[in-house]
Amino acid sequence: MRTVPGDNVILIGFMGAGKSACGRLLARRLGRCFVETGDMITAREGRSIPEIFREQGEERFRQLEGETLELLRLKSGDVIATGGGLPCRPGRMEALRALGTVVWLRGSLPELLARAARAGGRPMLAGRTAEEVEALYRQREPYYRQAHLVLDTTNLGVDAVVSRLLALLKARDAARV
Ligand code: S3P
Repeated sequence: MRTVPGDNVILIGFMGAGKSACGRLLARRLGRCFVETGDMITAREGRSIPEIFREQGEERFRQLEGETLELLRLKSGDVIATGGGLPCRPGRMEALRALGTVVWLRGSLPELLARAARAGGRPMLAGRTAEEVEALYRQREPYYRQAHLVLDTTNLGVDAVVSRLLALLKARDAARV
């Protein structure tokens, strides 16, 4: 795969989509660096995401995501996993698309939620009913849909997702030559 300035691979999708696990393995397979927007925020803030939500609320967290998006413009040739809500504000998908190839890791909502619940630490899921979580997902779909590529991860493990990702990226690269 060619690496040109700004040619990052950006994984987006709802909580539990496997953006971090698949991104880490994809980066290793491609010999690239792996970056997570959640880690960038916690490193800059010196506190965890649940702490940021608890102490300053969701809106402050979304501002920090906006600042992180600006910092991503310095990245080139990396694999970037974004937080589930990062793309879901006006203008953010356009900004992500300008950074490289954006891939939406989609999946069935029950499977995504089962994965997210296993890992824990998701303030956006805490105290929400199943209907509220589904409404959040539906509200985000129009943003996710603006990705360059979509991969359905339903019933797939990390290895299988990464194999398919590599094939998709290769095909896109070949089509651009
Ligand atoms: C969020 C998703 C989380 C994290 C924060 C908010 C969201 O990232 O950014 O808890 O609004 O969907 P993951 O998608 O990696 O869980």
